[in-house]
Amino acid sequence: MLRDTLQGALVLAPITKGSNLPYRRLCQELGARVTMSEMVVARRLRQKRRGEFALLRRFDDEKHFAVQIAGNNAEEMAWAAALAESRGANQVDVNLGCPIDFFTRKGLGAALGREPRRVAKIVTAMKAAVKVPVTIKIRLGWNDEHLNYREMVTIAAEAGVDAVTVHGRTRAARYTAQAQWDVIGEIAAMSPVPIVGNGDVLFKHEVDAGLGTGCAAVMTARGALIKPWLFSEMTQGDMDPTADERLAMYARYVALAREHWGEDERGTGRIREFLVWHLGFWCRYAPRRADGSYPGMQQRETWTPRSPLEALLARTDAAAHGYLADRLLARETVDPTQAPPPGDAQAMDDDLAEAG
Ligand SMILES: Cc1cc2nc3c(=O)[nH]c(=O)nc-3n(C[C@H](O)[C@H](O)[C@H](O)COP(=O)(O)O)c2cc1C
Repeated sequence: MLRDTLQGALVLAPITKGSNLPYRRLCQELGARVTMSEMVVARRLRQKRRGEFALLRRFDDEKHFAVQIAGNNAEEMAWAAALAESRGANQVDVNLGCPIDFFTRKGLGAALGREPRRVAKIVTAMKAAVKVPVTIKIRLGWNDEHLNYREMVTIAAEAGVDAVTVHGRTRAARYTAQAQWDVIGEIAAMSPVPIVGNGDVLFKHEVDAGLGTGCAAVMTARGALIKPWLFSEMTQGDMDPTADERLAMYARYVALAREHWGEDERGTGRIREFLVWHLGFWCRYAPRRADGSYPGMQQRETWTPRSPLEALLARTDAAAHGYLADRLLARETVDPTQAPPPGDAQAMDDDLAEAG
């Protein structure tokens, strides 16, 4: 039963680029037991695009792997779901939250999220095509004037959906506003199917608070990107790894990435690109404050690193990330005294404004 799998879990979110196979492996090694793919576009599968097929790949001992699919044609979505199942997916999920204009203009993601009846048809077709659970991932609505979560959850549940993930913001809010956990709790209370709450969790107590609203599980995207050890915190409580311990985790990611993408020039180039991308999130780690309070997901924390290495890991500029990526790839020691002077900051905020 999906309900049993989800109960109390911290779920790794679908993250375009971020929930790549080696990163999911790293998260599972650190304690994740439910993981989701990057968004896979059904139409691109139909077009036999190799890059899209690669996103369906599950690693050998991946415990519970959900594949998220974007599309708005019931027949095509059912076909894509069956394909994902045949390649080992333990769950298939429909993207109803992607805010990016490129997709919403095609009626996908958050645009499809405005059409509960159409979603019901898609869910019905997918349920008929696969044995694994079928889920949806929604936002609260298009904007504050068009909140349709009650209708969406009710209609999707009638169509047989097995669980609903709720990202507690509207499409218009993107990432600017705080996730509305009170509304997520309201949905959990009225929903006949398990609810996975999503938005802004960065520390274990925030996951616990999310579970406390009545959700079966909590999902994390940026929290897991910034702190992959958030999954370990679920059993071990708050952790504040040293800079060396953090580097060891990043090096482990490189080892897993090598297994996945290979060690030749092409593979190494690929890994470097992903590493630099991940470093844009890893650098955002800030520990619990001296007064016992916690940094929040939505504000940039100003804090004083406790060592030169920690200061290097906290740098947001491309020069630092390039240096770290090269050292990690070469399996060489990271020496803060050898790092280049700070350059321009990476524009991760701009990327984020467009994501998910
Ligand atoms: C870089 C990035 C890529 C994302 N890609 C997807 C995606 O492919 N599918 C999806 O449903 N949501 C996607 N999201 C949204 C997340 O799954 C999640 O709903 C959102 O980030 C809120 O959770 P958080 O506060 O833990 O980050 C993405 C988010 C980020 C930051």
